Amino acid sequence: MDLLRVCVVGTGSISDMHFQSFANNPNAILYGVYDYSQERAEEKSKKYGIEKVYASLEEVFHDPHVDAVSICTWNNTHAEISIGALKGGKHVLVEKPLSMTVEEALKVEEATRKYNKTLQVGFVRRFATNAKLLKSFIDHGKLGEIYYAKASCLRRLGNPGGWFADKERSGGGPLIDLGVHIIDICWYLMGRPKVKSISGNTYRKLGNRGNIENLRFYKAADYDNGKNTVEDLANALITFENGASLLVDVSFTLHAQKDEIQVKLYGTKGGAELEPELVLISEENDTILNVHPQIDHLTFDFSNAFQNEIDSFVTSCLTGTKPVAPIEDGVEIMKILAGIYEASEKKCEVTF
Ligand SMILES: NC(=O)c1ccc[n+]([C@@H]2O[C@H](COP(=O)([O-])OP(=O)(O)OC[C@H]3O[C@@H](n4cnc5c(N)ncnc54)[C@H](O)[C@@H]3O)[C@@H](O)[C@H]2O)c1
Repeated sequence: MDLLRVCVVGTGSISDMHFQSFANNPNAILYGVYDYSQERAEEKSKKYGIEKVYASLEEVFHDPHVDAVSICTWNNTHAEISIGALKGGKHVLVEKPLSMTVEEALKVEEATRKYNKTLQVGFVRRFATNAKLLKSFIDHGKLGEIYYAKASCLRRLGNPGGWFADKERSGGGPLIDLGVHIIDICWYLMGRPKVKSISGNTYRKLGNRGNIENLRFYKAADYDNGKNTVEDLANALITFENGASLLVDVSFTLHAQKDEIQVKLYGTKGGAELEPELVLISEENDTILNVHPQIDHLTFDFSNAFQNEIDSFVTSCLTGTKPVAPIEDGVEIMKILAGIYEASEKKCEVTF
């Protein structure tokens, strides 16, 4: 296989990042598109000069010209489309979260093994330049043993409405949508430790605040604020078998002064802040040093991270190398997310 022919399934807001990145990759061909909305699929096919607009998922799965499927659909369809594509002999890039439940995630894992294809989970933050650089410092022992991490992704106003706000189709609110990213990046940088126990809380106090005027925010392709069955705030303390712990909070809306993103890791030899901007903290000559790397992307940049993610996926598919965000990591993160929801529901610590 010289070039990878890709079909993008789901042509809403985030799909543009996939289309642009595949279009920029010299080893990939944007071959097809499919969406429930034929109109939206046609629009993307014109915009990106894509040959084929499919009428059904079955057509995609059975087309021998398609080598890989990039899934940008509602969360409730990630597992089903992944399994169908793998069964059809396609490689899969599936947007985060891998699925809505651990059971579904395990089924995708089984299919990945059975059909022996590449499956990469859309943990895009792993591919951002600042994260890649920090990972290399960590791998060289710069932080020592990382025993604590802390991450926040707080939107004061940012419930995307539509399917995102419908638990049946999303699996939850800011925890499964935003928490998935910051929990994954901390867990990955901490060395992927096994989870031991989780306590967590979710809150539904403010609604979707569809009444707020004159302030823009990210919206689902079919935005509507008529239904909202998801939490608006979640927090958790996750403890790992090696004794390390991770403290997280995320919101779709909160009476906060402004949006906030923070990802911080603390080790025995040094610390690091990944967001809002990469900084390394160390001690030398009895002096504390804050080190500011001189790089182009000190913070998460969508175009940069998605390009790296998709380049890495294309290489994995064409060369058979293991993806940087493999299926088993998708399953572990689903266990953590489900554990937080369970701890919140049962109002007690969940142990593994
Ligand atoms: N990696 C990131 O940073 C990031 C950012 C935003 C969204 N996402 C993820 O991407 C996915 C899509 O989010 P979005 O913001 O583009 O949503 P969106 O509402 O803008 O678009 C979703 C599209 O998928 C289509 N669709 C849904 N289920 C389908 C199915 N089974 N078959 C065909 N088409 C289907 C819808 O018609 C719609 O056009 C979600 O899983 C979301 O979590 C990831």
